[in-house]
Amino acid sequence: MELPYAEPFKIKMVENITRSTKEERLRWIKEAKYNLFNLSSDKVFIDLLTDSGTGAMSDKQWSELMLGDESYAGASSYYKLQHAIKDIFGFPYFLPTHQGRAAENVLFSVLVKEGDIIPGNSHFDTTKGHIEFRKAIPIDCTIDEAFDTTLYHPFKGNIDLNKLEQVLSQHHQKIPFIIITLTNNTAGGQPVSMENLKEVRYLANRYQKMIIFDSARFAENAFFIKTREKGYENRSIREIVRQMFSYADAMTMSSKKDGIVNIGGFIAMNDEKLFKQATIYNIMFEGYITYGGMAGRDMNALAQGLQESTTYEYLESRIGQVHFLGNKLKEYGIPIQEPIGGHAVFVDALKFFPHIPQSEYVAQLLAVELYIEGGVRGVEIGTLLADRDPKTGQDRYPKLEMVRLAIPRRVYTNNHMEYVAAALKNVYDRRTDIRRGFKITYEAPILRHFTVELERL
Ligand code: F0G
Repeated sequence: MELPYAEPFKIKMVENITRSTKEERLRWIKEAKYNLFNLSSDKVFIDLLTDSGTGAMSDKQWSELMLGDESYAGASSYYKLQHAIKDIFGFPYFLPTHQGRAAENVLFSVLVKEGDIIPGNSHFDTTKGHIEFRKAIPIDCTIDEAFDTTLYHPFKGNIDLNKLEQVLSQHHQKIPFIIITLTNNTAGGQPVSMENLKEVRYLANRYQKMIIFDSARFAENAFFIKTREKGYENRSIREIVRQMFSYADAMTMSSKKDGIVNIGGFIAMNDEKLFKQATIYNIMFEGYITYGGMAGRDMNALAQGLQESTTYEYLESRIGQVHFLGNKLKEYGIPIQEPIGGHAVFVDALKFFPHIPQSEYVAQLLAVELYIEGGVRGVEIGTLLADRDPKTGQDRYPKLEMVRLAIPRRVYTNNHMEYVAAALKNVYDRRTDIRRGFKITYEAPILRHFTVELERL
């Protein structure tokens, strides 16, 4: 019998979590105005709000904290992290930042100006935010297959080369760079193939454009290349990562994901001139070059985390757990985005509640019902997140209306996943009894999903 994968770690310390009753949760979520962000974490049993900054560090990472060098300038921790980044990604220059969006802020301060156009594959919200804040325009060139949740495509994060070429030829002068998000969070944690990266590089060379990778989940992307793309079966994760990044000029990183640390980010690049320009903004916004918003100890833990996240055994158990949950949901007939992504399972709320109109915030409804059922917190990726159209003031209805169940790294067991699946099944079984969604009673002009207040219809 072939042995199944098993976690390449054992548990040394535990954090107790407490269960609550359905009556308590009904009260708490009402008091929270049906916004899951308003719940204090002690009211949540299993927290799948995000996989960002919520992972468990290893004993080696914890011991690295003790070795942190907190010197303002020239700390050994900076050089340790620089060495790890050079080794793993191949970039000689790097700047630490306090998290991913800070990396975007610094790099885009150098590269993006009013009127620019930045093509990519479903830019993440903060990426889009930093582009639009500078009065530039992100253009989504993701392949169409990504928007059909039932269709199998091994690399739904891919860029459609025809769409990209059209943007490049039309707006050539206005494009400072192409951005590729690995894996593509917005489209469901879907990976980009090596072939696609190579072809985008080829196109970018023809138009002499830089390529930047938004690399938050780069290691998970590498795992999918190894397991799904022909020719990479026998290559190590580290070899695949090096090849992936050979097609990029620079990267932004949210270390809170595949760095397996609780806070941190960085920018890395090949070009010394770009490094020098970015340094100016880094010093202004983040901190001096050799710490940029991170404590020395945290840079140490990150250098170690990057080593751990780029091993096959770790990724096999990590992504294996995400797929364990996804497959359980499929067994129960629950509609999810396929194929299952790297960091999360996305439940298709429009298919879950076909009898409720999208205007009643169906993904939010599903997230709230799942919380009431089992104390499980997911997040709405749908109409609330999409905000209103700034021109018309009307809700924008995205093609996909989903609940994301993002799984923190090395935190929960598969028993927890069984529990989540059972809770969702119970909601599914009573779905036709749920007839109405929500209306908004308060909302902020942008990024409303964080603070929105709702009332049941
Ligand atoms: N890029 C991607 C693809 C992300 O998913 C995120 C964050 C960022 C950039 C920004 O990084 O949070 O460190 O500032 N995603 C989190 C999430 C918030 O829940 O998916 P950050």
